Parts: sequence; C-alpha cells; structure tokens
Amino acid sequence: MSWDIDRVRDELHKIDYRRRKIKDSDMFETVEEVFDYSTLMILYDLFNKGVLHVMYGVVNSGKEARVYWAKGRGGMDLAVKIYLTSTSEFRKGMMTYIVGDPRFKISSGKTRDVIYVWARKEYSNLVKAHNVGVRVPKPITVKGNVLVMEFVGVDGVPAPLLKDYTPTDIDAFFKVLMDYVSRLYCKARLVHGDLSEYNVMVFDESPVLIDFGQAVDLAHPLAEELLVRDIKNLLNFFSRKGVETPDLEEALIWVKRGGG
Ligand SMILES: Nc1ncnc2c1ncn2[C@@H]1O[C@H](COP(=O)(O)OP(=O)(O)OP(=O)(O)O)[C@@H](O)[C@H]1O
Ligand SMILES: [Mg+2]
Repeated sequence: MSWDIDRVRDELHKIDYRRRKIKDSDMFETVEEVFDYSTLMILYDLFNKGVLHVMYGVVNSGKEARVYWAKGRGGMDLAVKIYLTSTSEFRKGMMTYIVGDPRFKISSGKTRDVIYVWARKEYSNLVKAHNVGVRVPKPITVKGNVLVMEFVGVDGVPAPLLKDYTPTDIDAFFKVLMDYVSRLYCKARLVHGDLSEYNVMVFDESPVLIDFGQAVDLAHPLAEELLVRDIKNLLNFFSRKGVETPDLEEALIWVKRGGG
C-alpha cells in the first residue's frame, strides 16, 4: 500500500484518536505503527511542499533505516531513507562517527537528536561527494530522520549491489572506484568509512556509492584508520575477482596523491 498526503493525515488522526482513547479508558491496543508521530509529521511536510508525491513500498529494511521508493516532482524516482528512531542500540556507534567531526555538534544525548544529526550528516556527505564528481544518489533534501535522494534503479527495483553483481569490465570498474575514493579524500576531504561491496551499487555497469552516514571529515581522529580499512576491503574484494590490484601501500599513496 502506498503513501500520499491523505494517508499520512489519516494516520496522524488515528494516532491522536488512539492517544485520547488510551488516556480515557486506560485500554491498551496494540496497533502496528509503521511510522511514529514525528516521522509522520515530517512526511506530511514533505508531501505538502511537493517534494514527495507518492511513496511506495519498502525497498530495503535494515537495522537502522528503511529505504522506500517514491515519486517526486515531475514523476522523478526518489529513494526515501527513513532512520528508525525507535532502535537506540546503534546510537553509541553513531556517536563515534559524529564526535570528532568538526562539522557536527550534538546538542543533547537524546536518541532522536543523534539520529537527526546523523541524517543531516549523511545528506551533507552526499552533497560533498556529488560536488566532486563522485557518483552517488543525488541528494534532494533532509528533514529530521528522513533523507530524500535520487533513486538508483529502474521502476522501483534498486540497482544490484556489487556483492551480488559482477560488472562486465571489472578492471575499469575497479579503477573508477579507486578514483572515487581519491576524489573523496583529496577534493571532498571525506573518508567513506564503510566502503565494501555492500555499499557500492552497480548501475549501467558503473559504480554508485551509497550509505554515507558514517563518512567522516579528514580532521576526524579515525579518518586514516577508516581509509585504510576501506581500501583494504576494496583490494580484497577485487583481487578475489581476479583483478590485478596494487598493494595497500601503493594504493594509499595513489589515493592521497589524487589518483592519475
Ligand atoms: N538511492 C537509492 N536508490 C535505490 N536503492 C537504494 C538507494 N539507497 C539505498 N538503497 C537500497 O537500500 C539498501 C540499504 O541502503 P543503505 O546501505 O544506505 O542503508 P543501511 O542502513 O546501511 O542498510 P543495511 O543495514 O541494509 O545495509 C541498499 O543496499 C540499496 O539496496
Ligand atoms: Mg548499507
């Protein structure tokens, strides 16, 4: 079942009604709540502004976020990544990647606030990557725990991840990917921090990098360590696929020098 502004409004009313009822009668109903009240308010705002026209089913349901396929202005295909505010387990993990990045400050330790900063961080990382010519889902907007971006795929079917699909010209693919890592480092001052075949989509045989929430500024104390880990992941994966990969030291120098 898809979502539009009327359905969001209905759901908001239902929650209001239920809250009143629970208060009145102390009765407890278990109704499956897809979105909490504040998420519905944010969606309402995005529909109202015309950013979203209709939102279809879940494309991916992870521990931290769900990704939906949606249509926006002019029927543009969008991906809506909604961070779950109910699961607080990963809050601690998030803090590691926020504290130490000079761009972001946490005003309170409340789970919701941490998640909002995380979503903004992912958005701003996508903008930076996009601006230096790294292929990522084009960021559209962010509000609270909801991030709207370009949909990478066709008719609601996401492009495959690199772990599931081997590009035809894998040598060329590897080179482009390494160039992206280098651009991120030298031009955007970013380290992805969770780079692997799980966060690279293959669209039209070319790489698209996703999942930028944890990406950090080079000033972050973990930046170097994360860069090494990212590059190791890529070298391992591609050498298993038969690509002639450089060794780690060589690759690191190449990335930091700005490729070429
Ligand atoms: N812009 C997009 N267009 C199409 N599909 C997308 C887009 N962004 C994410 N997806 C799909 O959703 C999945 C999860 O996205 P992402 O990696 O950003 O979230 P995650 O929180 O790491 O989720 P998981 O824990 O499942 O990896 C991706 O593997 C991909 O299949
Ligand atoms: Mg991921």
